[in-house]
Amino acid sequence: MHSYAQLLQKVNEKIANNHFGSKPDELYQPITYMMSLGGKRLRPVLTLMASDMFSAQVETALDAALAVEVFHNFTLVHDDIMDNAPLRRGHETIYKKWNMPVAILSGDLMMIKSIEILARTNYTPFVDLLEVFNTTAAEVCEGQQIDMNFETRQDVSHEEYLEMITLKTAVLLGASLKIGALIGGASKEDANHLYEFGKNIGIAFQIQDDILDSFGEVAQVGKRIGGDIASNKKTLLLIELLACAHKDDLKYLQQLFGETDETIKINEVLKLYQKYQIKQFAESAKQQYLNTAFNHMSQIQCAEETKSVLISTANELMERMS
Ligand code: IPE
Ligand code: IPE
Ligand code: MG
Ligand code: MG
Ligand code: MG
Repeated sequence: MHSYAQLLQKVNEKIANNHFGSKPDELYQPITYMMSLGGKRLRPVLTLMASDMFSAQVETALDAALAVEVFHNFTLVHDDIMDNAPLRRGHETIYKKWNMPVAILSGDLMMIKSIEILARTNYTPFVDLLEVFNTTAAEVCEGQQIDMNFETRQDVSHEEYLEMITLKTAVLLGASLKIGALIGGASKEDANHLYEFGKNIGIAFQIQDDILDSFGEVAQVGKRIGGDIASNKKTLLLIELLACAHKDDLKYLQQLFGETDETIKINEVLKLYQKYQIKQFAESAKQQYLNTAFNHMSQIQCAEETKSVLISTANELMERMS
């Protein structure tokens, strides 16, 4: 079995050696820029880890690993437009550094390239991989639209939030693992358990992302802190605050939704998070999804020692600071 660090190195080499194209510059430079900013490379590493569980030839899954990372980066380029985000991975976002049309088009091309790269995989029938990939890609779009719809609603339930983050974030972690497992030769059943493992880890991953958006350090997160508060995102934190705030605080919170001074808005909502111990609530919510994930892992038919890298990766993700 390979470690996260070993697989990450393979992913980074693969990315560095991939040429996306060159002309016109305005289309291709942002793609190279985005792909070279780093990030955790979690999804491609998951693809390789899943393949590694069932096959000694982890290289066979490298194209698919690159494909999921390119797809993920496409979603970030467009997500930053939707979320008015100025900073990504500690650097200017593409629509800020270039402009909106450049960010839309280079994002579109990344989506197309991701499928082209996936298709280099030697897997029969290839359509099985494509189906997992495309179903997931469509679900991410659904989740992103629901996320935007929620900005103007104040009655979003915990269940609706869960469905939204499952679509926008969790299914891609599940799919990254499932694709790797299939390439590695796993049975459909084991591949599906890995999908469910990844989906549940993904739910906890997005809850942590919500926590970091309000309580993280910009130097570690590489994104603007408080961006979710500024755009009235219905994160788990805000949904819980809406559910438990007393009448006067609720009234003040509703007033803050319309506050145009973002610094005031962010600081005041953070104070309410503190008052109602919202961070502690979100921290404990993560745990149940981790448990469900491990339950799926325990049903996979392979030697226990081959599961240990994924299990420790999942545990580390719960406490991630970036
Ligand atoms: C950010 O994903 C978008 C979410 C789904 C929360 P990551 O936190 O994996 O971002 P990078 O790739 O490491 O930058
Ligand atoms: C992003 O959710 C999900 C996708 C990009 C599909 P967020 O909007 O919370 O991600 P960040 O915090 O900007 O990375
Ligand atoms: Mg965002
Ligand atoms: Mg978003
Ligand atoms: Mg976020």
